[in-house]
Amino acid sequence: MKVGIVGSGNMGGSLGTLWARAGHEVIFSYSRDDDNLCQLATLAGERATVGTPAEAVAQSEVILLAVGFPMLEAVMPTLGALDGKVILTCMSGLRPDFTGQTIGLPTELKISVAERVQQLAPHAHVVEAFNITFAEVLASESRQFGSDRPSIFYCGNNPDAKKIVAGLIQECGYDAVDAGELIVARSLETLATAWVQFAVASQLFPDLGLKALRR
Ligand SMILES: NC(=O)c1ccc[n+]([C@@H]2O[C@H](COP(=O)([O-])OP(=O)(O)OC[C@H]3O[C@@H](n4cnc5c(N)ncnc54)[C@H](OP(=O)(O)O)[C@@H]3O)[C@@H](O)[C@H]2O)c1
Repeated sequence: MKVGIVGSGNMGGSLGTLWARAGHEVIFSYSRDDDNLCQLATLAGERATVGTPAEAVAQSEVILLAVGFPMLEAVMPTLGALDGKVILTCMSGLRPDFTGQTIGLPTELKISVAERVQQLAPHAHVVEAFNITFAEVLASESRQFGSDRPSIFYCGNNPDAKKIVAGLIQECGYDAVDAGELIVARSLETLATAWVQFAVASQLFPDLGLKALRR
């Protein structure tokens, strides 16, 4: 599959690297330093290249949006045609000091980051995932915690897009858990805030995974 990374920082860099190593064609884009992008692609292997955000989108079926939420409104108009694309967003509206969110259920805006992405790209298939993990875990050797693998909750309105994202989650070494439709992103983003706050308060950050237990 062709995956365009828009925002090649801690999350985008690590996820793109894992997908390239899993056999996908990955295009890294959106950095203030082109050398960073080139270095990332070199380290990720022969299936990784670099491009502009518009090139990454045009050449890919799946787009990972991994920019800081304050950049979203400026980035979206630069991406070109998004109709029919799967947009995977891991973005959150977490405040830099972790005290809460700038968008989402606990705010007057109510809607989630993922729903805002859907508003900006109404004919794309938006799926939210990877909010409740840390980039440090993605960048580490493995997602295993002993015999356990952490869960990644994902939500969206298009079943085919969700199936693709579930596969991408599993290829990173996580257990993929379907959390429902895109409106659930409101709750997942709030859960992610609580998760970060817990991780910091407990001094367990960042070597931590959340798991949905089943029996
Ligand atoms: N970090 C986590 O553990 C984590 C976990 C879950 C969700 N998230 C969410 O995922 C999203 C990305 O987080 P992150 O930690 O990966 O952030 P990050 O490391 O800061 O990455 C942001 C990317 O945007 C690029 N960028 C920023 N401003 C730019 C500009 N003006 N022009 C061009 N490129 C620009 C950065 O490029 P350069 O810095 O290379 O210039 C970098 O590639 C955020 O919404 C965050 O809330 C993060």
